[in-house]
Amino acid sequence: MAKSSSSKASKPVFVLNGPNLNLLGQREPEIYGSTTLAEIEKQVKAKAKSLGLAVDCRQSNHEGELVDWIQEARVKASAVILNAGAYSHTSIAIHDALATLDIPVVEVHISNVYKRESFRHHSTISPVATGVICGLGTIGYALALEAIHSKI
Ligand code: DQA
Repeated sequence: MAKSSSSKASKPVFVLNGPNLNLLGQREPEIYGSTTLAEIEKQVKAKAKSLGLAVDCRQSNHEGELVDWIQEARVKASAVILNAGAYSHTSIAIHDALATLDIPVVEVHISNVYKRESFRHHSTISPVATGVICGLGTIGYALALEAIHSKI
């Protein structure tokens, strides 16, 4: 049967970045590297194109806005790639929003949070994520897209 225009694969993958990730390139480059968020989004879009996927890249410093976008993903996205920054370690609201999704969710961290302070060792998001990519640098977003491509 032909896929309808509302099939999951025809919807974009939401690539959501949380607080302080707008400062990538300037922020603690010894931890996060020198690649800016604009450059990451360019790489993600190129990767998506090569895989035949669409992406919708967004960044917010506000927890509620991330929750709104995750709720939007319920109807508008085929999958979610989320680096929730520090909210990964604190946000029950983001956990609860992700728990409502029935699409793949990949949690991304640029740094290896397990090599860092103990408050970064717990994620409220991991229990409701399909998978986690952590500590591989900014290529983690493109790897997440590959994983999603093989799932949908
Ligand atoms: C991060 C790790 C978090 O602990 C931190 O608060 C961030 C970025 C990462 O990508 O490595 O903002 O999610």
